[in-house]
Amino acid sequence: TNRTFTMIKPDATEKGNTGGILAMINEAGFRIVAMKMVHLSAAKAGEFYAVHKERPFYGELVEFMSRGPITAAILEKDNAVEDFRTLIGATNPAQAAEGTIRKKYASSIGENAVHGSDSNENAAIEGAFFFSQLEQF
Ligand code: GTP
Ligand code: MG
Repeated sequence: TNRTFTMIKPDATEKGNTGGILAMINEAGFRIVAMKMVHLSAAKAGEFYAVHKERPFYGELVEFMSRGPITAAILEKDNAVEDFRTLIGATNPAQAAEGTIRKKYASSIGENAVHGSDSNENAAIEGAFFFSQLEQF
């Protein structure tokens, strides 16, 4: 078994889709081992996405991710990172497969409802950005 990290992004929070997304996550067999709702400052969002600093969309991404509350969570399941990337679907919802979270809830390549870690190493780093060991069950 292993773990991944997710955020339900501000667009999904604004539209009232947090519960629907958590239901899809549960139905896909993930166990929530940590969860909280937080409103990131632009500085904190920029720090989280520092790996994208040189990308043309970095400014937009930081502005978007600090626009309103997100729900951050650590999820546990066999093959968690890869299976969660499959569950959320392609970055661009126009390319997301039927049955994926982004197909159902994302509105654009930027405002795409959810984040999912892209490796076990990043899952650990991103989880630790939001949660102490005491907050992980
Ligand atoms: P995450 O799970 O959020 O990391 O998405 P991803 O791994 O599918 O995509 P990537 O890591 O390449 O990009 C991170 C985030 O930046 C995306 O989820 C989008 O929110 C945003 N993003 C990526 N490409 C674009 C773009 O072309 N324009 C805008 N505005 N945002 C983008
Ligand atoms: Mg990514």
